[in-house]
Amino acid sequence: MTKVKIKKNDLKKPKNPILVTQPTLPNLDEFHASLKEIWASKWITNKGAFHQQFELELAKHLGVKYVSIFNNATIALLTALQALEIKGEVITTPYSFVATANSLMWNNLTPVFCDVDPIYGNLDAAKIENLITPNTTAIMPVHVYGTPCDVIAIEQVAKKHKLKVIYDAAHAFGVEVNNNSILNYGDLSVLSFHATKAFNTVEGGAIICHDDATKEKIDNLKNFGITDEITVVAPGINGKVNELIAAYGLLQLKTIDSDIEKCKTITTYYKEHLANIEGLKCMPDIKNTKLNYSYFPIFIDEEKFGMSRDELYFKLKENNIFGRRYFYPLITDFNTYKNFDSSNLPIAKKIASQVICLPIYAGLTTAEVNYITAIINS
Ligand SMILES: Cc1ncc(COP(=O)(O)O)c(C=O)c1O
Repeated sequence: MTKVKIKKNDLKKPKNPILVTQPTLPNLDEFHASLKEIWASKWITNKGAFHQQFELELAKHLGVKYVSIFNNATIALLTALQALEIKGEVITTPYSFVATANSLMWNNLTPVFCDVDPIYGNLDAAKIENLITPNTTAIMPVHVYGTPCDVIAIEQVAKKHKLKVIYDAAHAFGVEVNNNSILNYGDLSVLSFHATKAFNTVEGGAIICHDDATKEKIDNLKNFGITDEITVVAPGINGKVNELIAAYGLLQLKTIDSDIEKCKTITTYYKEHLANIEGLKCMPDIKNTKLNYSYFPIFIDEEKFGMSRDELYFKLKENNIFGRRYFYPLITDFNTYKNFDSSNLPIAKKIASQVICLPIYAGLTTAEVNYITAIINS
């Protein structure tokens, strides 16, 4: 493949900033109609009709058994750890959003950071076993950018050492391997529906589980541990979703598939226009996998590219393109986590120093992608 030719028009600076992402919002008239129903019923929270319908529709849409919706993924992660009564040490990744490790700290657990694979940035399953001690009780991997972890290898280690697996699947809405939801792996998976995610409910999240007893336990925990008027079975939390957000989420299910298709087209376009640039790597395609294409990370090798990742990041900014160095800094580089061992994390450190996520969202135009890739090519 030859290098893409830049036309003069491609380099024309846009008036408005191009942000790393932009949420899809539901049709306002349809949302208004849902609000009218809520106004009429005056049932605005606590497991109302929209809440119940949203959980059922989500389970159907995702191809999973049970969904418990939450007010955000961080509270869902905290609750998932409580639901499985995780103690001691949990093996996790430093190449994630800080909420992953924070959820462990808030549960008085000790994160043990494991290195990642150099291509996709996911927890390297081959390096887990070395980190297991008598105190290890669980693994918390992250499907980074919605790319599936090596779920089979993780399952094998977990089974061998009797560990629980909770996936931080914040990025993995709709992701499938061999026509099976990635959320069907592990003991629990946690989705995020934050405004920046593939599927958004403004703020929100969910825990996916595989049996009704666990679903009931999670539902109780997200409602203060209350099971009936006079009974509290656990020191739960408030992770509930109100009816306005549940109604919003139901409408979002109408457009998510076409949004993902649009982002898939943008990904292909980016890959064509960024091919054959020395020192710039995109993530390779993966066989038999349905992705949601909500991130487009590139990795810059400063020597070969002739410019550092940060220089490119600021050059893009100067040109009204707001990418994101995601995930940088590494969790273990934050002050809060400085005391944790990071000597075993060379690959995570390297990719965190090379990554920029370029803008991608359903509404991004071809002209905008042309402009972004022309600036990089120039
Ligand atoms: C990997 C990961 N985990 C957890 C979270 C937290 O999600 P929320 O903002 O819904 O609490 C995020 C959100 O950005 C994330 O990217």
